[in-house]
Amino acid sequence: MRRRIVAGNWKMNLVFSEADDLVNGIAQALIECDLDDVEVVICPPFPYLELTSDIGEESDFSVGAQNVSKFDNGAYTGEISAKMLEDMNIYYCIVGHSERRKYFNETNEDIAEKVKRLFEVDITPIVCVGESLEQRESGNHFGIIKKQVVEGLFHLSNEQMENVIIAYEPIWAIGTGRTATSQQAQEIHSFIRGLVAEKYGKQTADNISILYGGSCNTQNAKELFAMPDVDGGLIGGASLKADDFVKIATSF
Ligand code: PGA
Repeated sequence: MRRRIVAGNWKMNLVFSEADDLVNGIAQALIECDLDDVEVVICPPFPYLELTSDIGEESDFSVGAQNVSKFDNGAYTGEISAKMLEDMNIYYCIVGHSERRKYFNETNEDIAEKVKRLFEVDITPIVCVGESLEQRESGNHFGIIKKQVVEGLFHLSNEQMENVIIAYEPIWAIGTGRTATSQQAQEIHSFIRGLVAEKYGKQTADNISILYGGSCNTQNAKELFAMPDVDGGLIGGASLKADDFVKIATSF
């Protein structure tokens, strides 16, 4: 069943007291609105996962991590395994964000491995794809996105594929204040759904949630979420303000 999802990606922001204030602010704001058919996910940095999941248990949101190791366990200093996340009641994990692809050289193959680790412990991956401005301007964006989807996800079984969340995040729109138009988002979302339909069938493609990310805010969320293939958003900057984030979650 296709779900409406709004996920907040805090990235590497906030010290503990600020994270505490924000997560409590979100919990409070959620009480004041009726969000029956929208899944709200908060993805804080690792050190705040426990805080966030403790508050989440009493509130109406789920918790996700921003990254996971592609390795199972063992001598990988600094890494966090999927099993560790599962053990902390984390239900989602962002994988393949463009910042990880760019600064940490993550490849589609790494992303495929991470997605495998997550499914081994039943954590839902939120897999990010998206093109650079240069790739869009040279008309290569469809090819780039196809490669990211095929190499990152097409090793999955049908059942696993139905449980993947894909986030389309054009790199030129991330943190720039320059949002994709709702038509640009719809075009790529329907392209991605079409790729999934070709490999896994229409029913699976219809069931997966595809989120838009990139300067999504309280002003543009409604128009973006009104598109038939946009099932919600992955929110960066605007997820650091409790009221804005919750307002975005009410924008369907
Ligand atoms: P932004 O980031 O909303 O600040 O553009 C989105 C993201 O990187 O997930």
